[in-house]
Amino acid sequence: MKAFLSVSVLCVIFCVSMTCGQRLRSIKKVNAQCSVSKKVDCGYYGINQNQCESKGCCWVPNVPSTEPWCYNPASGPSPSPSPPPSPPSPSPSGNAPFTADQMKLMQGYFEANLNVHGNGAVMASPSTQSPDYYYHWQRDGAISMSKLFDYKLPVEYQGFMESYINWVHRAQFANDPNGIDIRGEPKFYVDGKCYEKGWMRPQRDGMALRTITLLLWAKELLSENKTDYVKQNIYVMNPNMAGVQRDLERIQQVWSQNSGDPWEEINSQVFFVKFVMRRALFLGAQIATALGDTSSASSYASTAKSIEDNINSNHWDANKGLIMEIPNQRPLDSAVHLGVLYGNNGDGFYSPSSERVQSSVAVLMNTFSSNNYPDFSINKKDDELGLPGLLVGRYPNDVYNGGNTSQPSGGNPWILCSSSLAEIFYTAAKEHIEAGVPLHISDVNIEFFKLSLEHSQHVLNSTTVVELRRKLVPGQNLDRSLFQNMMRALMATGDGILTRVAHHVKPYNFHLNEQINKDTGLAQGAHDLTWSYGTVIGAMKAREDLLDTANWIA
Ligand code: NOJ
Ligand code: NOJ
Repeated sequence: MKAFLSVSVLCVIFCVSMTCGQRLRSIKKVNAQCSVSKKVDCGYYGINQNQCESKGCCWVPNVPSTEPWCYNPASGPSPSPSPPPSPPSPSPSGNAPFTADQMKLMQGYFEANLNVHGNGAVMASPSTQSPDYYYHWQRDGAISMSKLFDYKLPVEYQGFMESYINWVHRAQFANDPNGIDIRGEPKFYVDGKCYEKGWMRPQRDGMALRTITLLLWAKELLSENKTDYVKQNIYVMNPNMAGVQRDLERIQQVWSQNSGDPWEEINSQVFFVKFVMRRALFLGAQIATALGDTSSASSYASTAKSIEDNINSNHWDANKGLIMEIPNQRPLDSAVHLGVLYGNNGDGFYSPSSERVQSSVAVLMNTFSSNNYPDFSINKKDDELGLPGLLVGRYPNDVYNGGNTSQPSGGNPWILCSSSLAEIFYTAAKEHIEAGVPLHISDVNIEFFKLSLEHSQHVLNSTTVVELRRKLVPGQNLDRSLFQNMMRALMATGDGILTRVAHHVKPYNFHLNEQINKDTGLAQGAHDLTWSYGTVIGAMKAREDLLDTANWIA
């Protein structure tokens, strides 16, 4: 942060004293009006100089820190309005919601947060104050690292992965200052020390997520016959040593116990946590089998089966058609569809094409729709602009605004929740296409398909829409032509959601924060959130995979 500040100060000095280019000249002009005694806050948590100035506000990162750094002069022009909306682009399925160049930009910002100081740490965000996210969260780190596989070749991500595996090994044996098993620790300083202050503990998803990431890498290495490396550095047949067996052993011990949820707010029985543990165990069983460790393989697989039974009996609410993230306490939650993506084991169990997931996604989207959730007025405004899609938050009535939970402005749409929703639609379509026709419409999945139809009318021709509407009745099967159009609708729904996200991040040159303000649509919360980038990268990869599976869909 210090370095960043002095760079901004230097830039200001540089601009005032030199003849600068066009852009810098306009900064100088802004600065002249900026020496005022009364400042009206024009920013939001985590705003940076570029973001501030692109809103036409003054940027003076000064002390006392009680004054806003990004502000308008009190007597001067009134705060400039939100960035002008670019013309809505309803992205018919041929048009990608993000261009290749935009993806490159985001990948660059994303990689800047990885392998901090070369020690494998992943910072959640470079923001060091309001909020301070300059830590390695086990969850964010593991999820993000796995996104490298989505756009890089093995030779390109190998260095990143080697650093990350060293990080994980150190974290498995770091000293725990909080008197718990270190594998349940959520958050570390980027130098590798475990965070010692008050926090939600334990959080047991992190060890499962890092196991998944490392084992996906191991699969790739095994396909290149690098068996020894996998045995010695990743799998390591000894739970007392650093390696994935150490985490898998812990998962077997504690999977049925309570855990902090991924939003670090409730300690309970959590779908997200169990579901990613199940995948870690199945992947563990696969790799164990490949390495000839058959007894571990069957032990992991049997624990994974127990988790399935537990999920079926405790996390499905048949009346509401909802997979309950935290039964009784917070059933409806975006963590369900995030968990579905990270825990998807390719076997159909609670995968995006399964009825239960589809029904839950429909409940979530209906809950956050502009008619049912006026608190997110940005969705209504976007609807009126003709933008497709929907922005969703973590869960209804969230109060966290990206810095604290005590302001009235809490509970915004989240980029990572919305982008992953798009990924659900792409992956669902891909899975349906792989399963083949006919597609059976049931009481449970019908809402999901109806909703996709609503979200994609701009892409389908009107006769098709009428016909699909008629056929969307429980007990019907969609034949080939309707099936193909329904799959187009799923893709268009995903595209719509990403198009809405893209619309709000374009004014920031595709820098992604954690949240999008529910009323203004402006960026909010930690800037350059690694996990936000990860979800856009993941969703766009799922879109590409879908197009590879069926070229007729575009
Ligand atoms: C910080 C956590 O990371 C966030 O998820 C939570 O909502 C707030 N603390 C409030 O508990
Ligand atoms: C708050 C989120 O709720 C939590 O899931 C995340 O791990 C941290 N922020 C860091 O990004």
